[in-house]
Amino acid sequence: MVVYLDHAATSPIRPEVLQRYTDYLTVLGNPSSVHTAGQTSRKALEEAREEIAKAIDCNRNEVIFTAGGTESDNLAIKGLFWAQNRKDARRRLVLSAYTEHHAVIDPIEWLEREQGAEAVWIPVDECGVINLDWLAQFLAERADEVALISLMWANNETGVVTEVSRVTEIAKRFDIPVHSDAVAALGHIPVSFAESGLAAMSITAHKVGGPVGVGALVVARSVKLTSLVHGGGQERAMRSGTMNAAGAKAFSLAVTLAVANLEQHGTHTSELRDQVIRGVLQIVPDARFSRGEAPGLPDNAHFTFPGCSGDSLLFLLDQAGVCVSNGSACQAGVTAASHVLLTMGRDEAEASGCLRVTLGASNTAEDIQKFLDALPAAYAGARKAGYTTS
Ligand SMILES: Cc1ncc(COP(=O)(O)O)c(C=O)c1O
Repeated sequence: MVVYLDHAATSPIRPEVLQRYTDYLTVLGNPSSVHTAGQTSRKALEEAREEIAKAIDCNRNEVIFTAGGTESDNLAIKGLFWAQNRKDARRRLVLSAYTEHHAVIDPIEWLEREQGAEAVWIPVDECGVINLDWLAQFLAERADEVALISLMWANNETGVVTEVSRVTEIAKRFDIPVHSDAVAALGHIPVSFAESGLAAMSITAHKVGGPVGVGALVVARSVKLTSLVHGGGQERAMRSGTMNAAGAKAFSLAVTLAVANLEQHGTHTSELRDQVIRGVLQIVPDARFSRGEAPGLPDNAHFTFPGCSGDSLLFLLDQAGVCVSNGSACQAGVTAASHVLLTMGRDEAEASGCLRVTLGASNTAEDIQKFLDALPAAYAGARKAGYTTS
């Protein structure tokens, strides 16, 4: 039996969600059609919107369905940049951190290359914590050039959590919209859009026990975004395209269940996470827990291992029947040092030797023991293979 310890990459679909998803896949009707079949689909879609709004504490009109986290991040960043920049051409700066997911970094770099934006990367400390004093100081000097700020709620590699409400409190003084990628945070720590003060927030279904290919960008009612795609004008004209009622229904149930089980899930995963941390540091005393003492997600344990490549470690653990990750260092089959760890000040060798364990409801203490049993041989093998850069 394979031990799956990579829930942050994607999580198993919950049985109740699968049931609802398949039930709604056969419901005929385009939610935009006026006939009865269309209105049945529309009703399902709107129920899903309402259910998500309840779970994440926002108004239902603020939920814009998308095809997932990547699309939501692109819509937020490009859409806010275009809207802000059109209002005031001096607003060219996009503030973010280089520890973000590539779904945030890459649209910002694209805006820089193609659209006259300028990226400003806010410094982070060695635990990955964003330097918010630096942000406040920067805004005090150059706020009128800033189009938006984008800072993730929790980091998908290291699990470090950002004080989102402090970010929005600082930005509010200068009337700058803040977007947050809450993909890694949702279902693991409390996420309230209303309390956050955010202009926009990205979420996705497949990280919380829902299907791949459905997500949402939550957009505050007062916020104007320029759309990425144009067509039928669905989703407040921010995201044209036939709406995915079955996906939305599955997503809304997944989010509701994840939020309802938050406390229990947090207790369960943090106990297992502590077992992972204790065990790993016993087996490899030189391993480093990446976020140190910084506040983090209950389900995430991320380490660097000296003198070996994370890829070899991953491969050898996989051969032993344990699925873990090295974060998002491997993109489209290309391996590289983790940009997150490099930004946190690690050198290339250290940033290439990382391992991420992320936990879910079905994991047990026995799963962790299997991982720990496999680790000594995998680590010895990975050290022998050594560290190589691609
Ligand atoms: C923090 C974060 N943002 C965005 C994404 C992209 O989400 P999706 O896979 O739904 O496009 C991921 C997925 O790995 C993620 O971890």
